[in-house]
Amino acid sequence: MRILVIGSGGREHALVWKIARSGQVKDPGDVFAAPGNGGTLAEGATNVPINADDIDGLVAFAKRERIDLAVPGPELPLTLGIVDRMRDAGIAAFGPDAYCAQLEGSKAFAKEIMAAAGVPTAASAIFTDLAAAKAHLADAALPVVIKADGLAAGKGVVIARTREEALGAIGDMMETRVFGTAGDRIVMEEFLEGEEVSLLCLCHGTRAVPLPSAQDHKTVFDGDTGPNTGGMGAYSPAPVLPDSKLGTTASLVVEPVLRELERRGHSYTGVLYAGLMITRDGPKVLEYNVRFGDPECEPLLMRLETDLVLAMKACIDGRLERIDATSQTAIGVVMAAKGYPGAYAKGIPIQGIPEADKLPGVKVFHCGTRREGDRLLSAGGRVLCVTALGSGLAMAKANAYQAVERITMDGAHYRHDIGDKGLRRLQGAG
Ligand code: AMP
Ligand code: GLY
Repeated sequence: MRILVIGSGGREHALVWKIARSGQVKDPGDVFAAPGNGGTLAEGATNVPINADDIDGLVAFAKRERIDLAVPGPELPLTLGIVDRMRDAGIAAFGPDAYCAQLEGSKAFAKEIMAAAGVPTAASAIFTDLAAAKAHLADAALPVVIKADGLAAGKGVVIARTREEALGAIGDMMETRVFGTAGDRIVMEEFLEGEEVSLLCLCHGTRAVPLPSAQDHKTVFDGDTGPNTGGMGAYSPAPVLPDSKLGTTASLVVEPVLRELERRGHSYTGVLYAGLMITRDGPKVLEYNVRFGDPECEPLLMRLETDLVLAMKACIDGRLERIDATSQTAIGVVMAAKGYPGAYAKGIPIQGIPEADKLPGVKVFHCGTRREGDRLLSAGGRVLCVTALGSGLAMAKANAYQAVERITMDGAHYRHDIGDKGLRRLQGAG
């Protein structure tokens, strides 16, 4: 098969790596990455200089190159309707149509679907009018969570601890329009307390097959402090959501949404990711993503034993029964450029990846790199996701950090505590 992976991050490198190992792919060169990165190139995949949001360019390429399966990584092409457009062109694509992708593209849409489907989530109100939002704030409990409705590259959520902070956030979104049209509508919601976890399911119609749980680390510094990032590391499984609870959790937070979408005439296909807060009252949905999470994808695919291409095809055809994963734990530690998530330099030379990759159970995924001659240079804020398997969380963590130490990149920043919430829970203190 000839397969097109769309995107350029660590998730897409992991997808290319796993897809190139499928029995359905004869030659790694039959895997195309648009635009890909230094890591997809190192897998022997063919990088194609088309951006992930160039829907016309991607469809034209897929037709010309007789692509059998398109796999969009990030949310933007999905919300722009890449799956609808590929289907119209007769090309199978793994992901939801533009209607279903609104679950991620519009937080108000997601809230409305959750209410209709009876899914547990934070109590919320939706506003398009600044004065009404301000009036609502006057007697809202603190802290209060303010969210821009549309896509805002992970920056559209503010947890306001004071009314002044909340007013500032509302003003930034609705008046100053720091997120453009994404902030024309806002969601104001109840602050939830608990431990976060990601539940990803492969879905078709009303059927959801859960992957093992994973836990992201969103803030830039140890101890969950500092500004939010795209994710500084992840591990799977997360003890807060053990395998024994995957089925019941999916039937609480994923299946009702699939049924509601189907009732509206839209059958969901692809990964549906529920970002959950495990509260004292049970799991509540913080958000939906309509794709694999990044960095959750890297440890999850390291654990996957099922042939990913067969699983995606079976999912599209509505035949997927189960997914098998190793009982080993996987951890991914993100190495970022100094300054991320603020301003950071690009073009920093990276060394030591071949040495790290030789360690048992280790795979270094590239999030933002490019090849220049025989040098590998950083090309993004998140640069690498150093991923390792181990028998148990402590072993996986030790393996991953040993690999991190083999890699040199001037000013590299990474968290030292990836997996620690899980370790505390396993030790009975969490
Ligand atoms: P989101 O983009 O909706 O996942 O929000 C980003 C992050 O903000 C989440 O990962 C949570 O850490 C936090 N967050 C979002 N909504 C809430 C909420 N209602 N209560 C507490 N934290 C929240
Ligand atoms: N890791 C969170 C996300 O992909 O949105």
